[in-house]
Amino acid sequence: MSDSVRIIEVGPRDGLQNEKTPISVPDRIAFIERLIGAGLPIVEVGAFVSPKAVPQMVGSAEVLRGVSHLPGEFHVLVPNEKGYEASQAAGARVIAVFASASEGFSRANINCSVAESIERFKPVLARAKADGIKVRGYISCVLGCPFDGEVRPQAVVDVARALWDLGCYEISLGDTIGVGTPLKARDLMRAVAGEVPVQNLAMHFHDTYGQALANLYAGMGEGVRVIDSAAGGLGGCPYAPGATGNVATEDVVYMLEGMGIATGVDMEKLLAATNEVSRLLGRPPVSRVASALNAKKKR
Ligand code: HMG
Ligand code: MG
Repeated sequence: MSDSVRIIEVGPRDGLQNEKTPISVPDRIAFIERLIGAGLPIVEVGAFVSPKAVPQMVGSAEVLRGVSHLPGEFHVLVPNEKGYEASQAAGARVIAVFASASEGFSRANINCSVAESIERFKPVLARAKADGIKVRGYISCVLGCPFDGEVRPQAVVDVARALWDLGCYEISLGDTIGVGTPLKARDLMRAVAGEVPVQNLAMHFHDTYGQALANLYAGMGEGVRVIDSAAGGLGGCPYAPGATGNVATEDVVYMLEGMGIATGVDMEKLLAATNEVSRLLGRPPVSRVASALNAKKKR
């Protein structure tokens, strides 16, 4: 497996969207600057969603404008045409639409059925294509739903196919509540890779049950080479009860480097970014690697 892996750092969006302590726009910008400085060139920085739905993402336009001078690719979430317009006014070049493989979560998260969400994305994708904007497609609840329970792989395959056919350049498969286990993750990647080229798949695993690294490893065995992760293991979805953070970027980098896969990430600088945002949030990082390295420093 000694080839390259692309890491999408989602801490400033997925990481901060579920935090009770509000982080100011300047602090969000400084966090992103540190992540870029640590060697993470692709960062999801915000979301153009309803401020009532996710108040933590208010100010995403200012955040995006505030990082536009930095070298990097910045992603933002867009749920509908209103969000698309706001993203374009702020200069977004890459956006992400987000669907669900389960009806229960779709309703809770974006207030519509799965089929309605795909319809809602059609004009967004059409406008993005005309404007030369790249669109990533997320699918939530690919290994289980907090409302509907088990999710059939075929349901994931169908949504992946629909997003791919609409023109998404990459499909990110979200284990939103971190319930998956490695063989299920492997089988899912295999099933989706039958419809969407494996090089266009990403793994977005939350670590609620401590399975994320094992699941990533299983997915890598199927050839998936794009990983979403959050510095310090921040994250969670306000509309997925019980969901905790994304797999920690530190943990992913440590695993990949240990496998001989160069990530280009400077662990010391990443740790500094994590420690600073943890200080603002008032609690230590949940990343095992960050905790181990912090403990080592104290010795
Ligand atoms: P709705 O209530 O059905 O929307 O919400 P609506 O069109 O009826 O509009 C209601 C109000 O929202 C109106 O304002 C609109 O203007 C406003 P009002 O008249 O009441 O003052 N509105 C907006 N405002 C700002 N930006 C917009 C926007 N659209 C409407 N884009 C909607 C539907 C999708 C908007 C709402 O449910 C929403 O914003 N949901 C987002 C939820 C969210 O952000 N969840 C977290 C991200 S997804 C995630 O974390 C999973 C992921 O990480 C992968 C994984 O882990 O699985 C990606
Ligand atoms: Mg997520």
